[in-house]
Amino acid sequence: MGVSSLLKRMAERQITDVLNKPDEALEKTLRPSAFSDFTGQPKVQERLTIAVTAARQRGEVMDHVLLNGPPGLGKTTLAGIIANELGSNLRCTSGPTIEKAGDLAGLLTNLEEGDVLFIDEIHRLQRTIEEYLYPAMEDFKLDIIIDQGPNARSVRINLPPFTLIGATTRRGLLTAPLLTRFPITERVDYYQAEDLKKIVLRAAGLIHLEADEEGAMEIARRSRGTPRIANNLLRRVRDYAQVRGDGRITSRSADAALAMLEIDCNGLDEMDKRLLETIIVKFGGGPVGLNNLAVALGEEPDTLEEVYEPYLIMEGYLNRTPQGRIATELCYQKLGLTKEGDKQLGLV
Ligand SMILES: Nc1ncnc2c1ncn2[C@@H]1O[C@H](COP(=O)(O)OP(=O)(O)O)[C@@H](O)[C@H]1O
Ligand SMILES: [Mg+2]
Repeated sequence: MGVSSLLKRMAERQITDVLNKPDEALEKTLRPSAFSDFTGQPKVQERLTIAVTAARQRGEVMDHVLLNGPPGLGKTTLAGIIANELGSNLRCTSGPTIEKAGDLAGLLTNLEEGDVLFIDEIHRLQRTIEEYLYPAMEDFKLDIIIDQGPNARSVRINLPPFTLIGATTRRGLLTAPLLTRFPITERVDYYQAEDLKKIVLRAAGLIHLEADEEGAMEIARRSRGTPRIANNLLRRVRDYAQVRGDGRITSRSADAALAMLEIDCNGLDEMDKRLLETIIVKFGGGPVGLNNLAVALGEEPDTLEEVYEPYLIMEGYLNRTPQGRIATELCYQKLGLTKEGDKQLGLV
């Protein structure tokens, strides 16, 4: 890459950093730091609370934890809460940023006893690097190769006992040896609207916004079961209410703002609808393979599979079969389309 394009990229990055700043700060304020502030996922919370308490009582490090589930449901938040409640430092990294075995060795050898190491997107860790993790997780040992050629030899380094928390949106991509090294694995699931309502009300309180129950519920219902989306929509509704209303979040201001954003009463947005419509109109309702669908939509297959599809499947609009994706009856009804792809008037 030429110097000028490099500089341009750097500048762009700085600009987006500046643009992202306010939201990042807000995100930090909104992120719960204790189990008592974390709403929903009662079973996950109970099991993790017990594991944390037991480890504290014994004065031992907590077992490694794998958190699995779609984006925005609180995996990173939970990692932070666990570290907090253990009274430990949290060190964060992610699968794709660990490029060489040396990067991992650096991270591990810099840990202090009892630290929590959080590896986000752990399914994207390279295989060769993953293998270094096995003895580190099991025996707190790291085998590294030093020197090259005939002088190469393996050296074993003792690591301080630590807790690894891995997060993944794709548990299925983890290798069996890695999976079995997590004594605790938890799945976070989409939230009920009631829980999301509480999350919205709490967030509104933290950013000094006046929101009534109905307004919060309207946002909750249209957030695809996802706290991150609920918080994002709350911000958009806040903007709308400030400019077009009296600044308060009510069912009216929420409904008007979300309608403007083209988020429908079930929380489906433009992309969701385009995805469903494409299956019906371009692929005769399916089955259509993920890659074909991704090309037709101009999206990455991974994004479709991890971000969009899980909610559509859960809500019953889409089926995943070995032959491909199929639009369900409910999907036709939702879009007001018949099996022939004709629009039925008045049903959209
Ligand atoms: N159970 C919850 N209660 C309150 N807020 C939550 C909860 N889960 C997630 N959030 C909010 O949603 C945002 C996204 O959560 P995050 O932990 O980053 O999701 P993930 O790591 O699973 O993608 C966080 O900023 C946090 O404020
Ligand atoms: Mg995360």
